[in-house]
Amino acid sequence: MDSTQAVVAETTTHRAWVGAAILVISLSESVLAAGSSVFSPVSPPAQSIRDVFILVLIITGVIFLLVEGLLIYNLICFRAKVNDRQGDPPQIYGVAPLELAWTVAPLLIVFVLFLVVVRTVVAVNRPRLPANAINVQVIGHRWWWEFRYPDLEVRAANELHIPVSDSEHPRPVELDLFSADVIHSLWVPELAGKTDLVPGRTNHMWFQTDAPGVYPGQCAEYCGTQHANMRLLVIAEPPEQFAAWAKHQAEPAVNDPTLVVDRQRFLSLACINCHRVAGTLAQGTFGPDLTHLMSRRTLGAVTLTNDRQGLKDWIDNPQLHKPGCLMPNMQLTDEDVRQVVKYLSSLQ
Ligand code: CUA
Repeated sequence: MDSTQAVVAETTTHRAWVGAAILVISLSESVLAAGSSVFSPVSPPAQSIRDVFILVLIITGVIFLLVEGLLIYNLICFRAKVNDRQGDPPQIYGVAPLELAWTVAPLLIVFVLFLVVVRTVVAVNRPRLPANAINVQVIGHRWWWEFRYPDLEVRAANELHIPVSDSEHPRPVELDLFSADVIHSLWVPELAGKTDLVPGRTNHMWFQTDAPGVYPGQCAEYCGTQHANMRLLVIAEPPEQFAAWAKHQAEPAVNDPTLVVDRQRFLSLACINCHRVAGTLAQGTFGPDLTHLMSRRTLGAVTLTNDRQGLKDWIDNPQLHKPGCLMPNMQLTDEDVRQVVKYLSSLQ
């Protein structure tokens, strides 16, 4: 290798290392940004999955160290020496005990892993849930989540409220998964594994947690241009707080008499073809239900913060914040936007 080749080789290696470092940093950043980890489960299905993951990691880690260790040992200890005679080393054919060992050991390992995985699959799949389980119908849309609570007459979007359990009062959440268009996949890493939402069939998943908190989730099956912005939040709260939320959500929209003009403006626009505001003309079901819009933290499936400014930015031109999303730029005048924002921000 001449000096130019050496420099090129060194630069290439250097680039590869920098590339790998950037990949690792961006991966860990995306994990941190999502604020979610499969290593901190708070629900039985997620715990089972974490346990089996760690077991497999340990077994495969030991195999990796063993194989790579032997390889490196042999590479170093049996490398060609200066005074070695030329030609192949003595050839050995067939050592029965060794061959038996490396056939039986992997078989045993695979068998143990098979048993553990079957046990985990049974534990993660829907067990017989108690009668007080909360039933939620989850409908995947491009690119947002609809949550219907048939027993509570509640329709919500992108933010799934659930009550926490305690040891004496387990309250699992049973999810029936549907899709309105293409295949999506519901994934809330701290609560459960991924389950697909497939058009024309109903899948199920469940979780249950004792830990109040906000658990971020994400669509985990590529479903089109805004797949990455198909996020959700699971808000686990004390039972009283959940009951109050559900009661409020089941009520029709507030009807502030001082906003008659603004409401009329909203109801005269094409918004009502896709959105519902319970108790008004707006009965569209194509987009998220807006009846209690301001009780949500975010807009556009966890894309923007839901405050007056976020609402204004979103209504002004959703395509700017979620390019390709199915809510078009309505080309509203500034005055229209002002009135619509004024009315919508009253929908507590
Ligand atoms: Cu829905 Cu990806």
